[in-house]
Amino acid sequence: MSDKLISDISVSGIKSYFSDDYIYFGDVINSPTTSDRQARFIWELLALEQGRPVVELGCGYGRISNRLAEKGARVAGIDISPILLKKAEADAAERGVNVEYVLGDMRSLPWRDRFDAAFLWYTTFGYFDDEDNEKVLLEAASSLRKGGRLLIDHPNRIDFLSHKSPICHVAQRNGDVRIDMYSNDVISDRSNLERIIVRDGCVRRTHLSFRQYGFSEYVRMLRSAGFETVEAYGQEGEAFTSDSSRLVVVACK
Ligand SMILES: C[S@@+](CC[C@H](N)C(=O)[O-])C[C@H]1O[C@@H](n2cnc3c(N)ncnc32)[C@H](O)[C@@H]1O
Repeated sequence: MSDKLISDISVSGIKSYFSDDYIYFGDVINSPTTSDRQARFIWELLALEQGRPVVELGCGYGRISNRLAEKGARVAGIDISPILLKKAEADAAERGVNVEYVLGDMRSLPWRDRFDAAFLWYTTFGYFDDEDNEKVLLEAASSLRKGGRLLIDHPNRIDFLSHKSPICHVAQRNGDVRIDMYSNDVISDRSNLERIIVRDGCVRRTHLSFRQYGFSEYVRMLRSAGFETVEAYGQEGEAFTSDSSRLVVVACK
């Protein structure tokens, strides 16, 4: 199979995963209060300022981008899912904020030397092979001005891998159910997620796979993408340890 065909298949898998069902269960997984808290955390960690430009790579349905715009940042968001972007735009209009939403692929960004900050929030990095994952970091670096910051939030792989596979999560809304089953492949260092949706009497299955990088791998990749400093935090901005549930990486160009 050609690389192009493999890439098309992986993009169509990503698109069917990030569908209307993803939006439907969104508030059950991240309540509005949780999203408010996350937006505050991102604002602080990226040292954002009113009127200054920031971009979210993989912005989904805009739950973070729209909140940052409400706080006064000049926000752009890019996503590969037209359904999620439509919802992001509708929510921005409801909140009365302006966000530049772009349909596109984070492996090829339309911006150069433009932003104070960029971020990939909520396990939005690592969907591709190593070469393409590193391409995302290179593109992020190119979109930032000198001194700009990049934030990546991901599960802490040490903590994640310590749980016995498969790890199962169930979410419910009205009478509908979303079942997530994670299994870890320690040979490829990837987590594979099977999602089963039971909604309105129909059953749908989707799949997502993402690479689990350790902090030292982030340091190597980010330095080679052109970042000068790389720091690690836990989920609330505290020092990162093996027990942290998340690894939040902040790099400065
Ligand atoms: C886990 S969601 C997170 C969404 C958002 N950051 C949030 O916190 O709600 C990951 C997002 O990345 C998007 N995505 C996946 N691959 C992408 C790509 N190659 N280019 C742009 N967006 C992509 C998906 O469509 C999805 O909206």
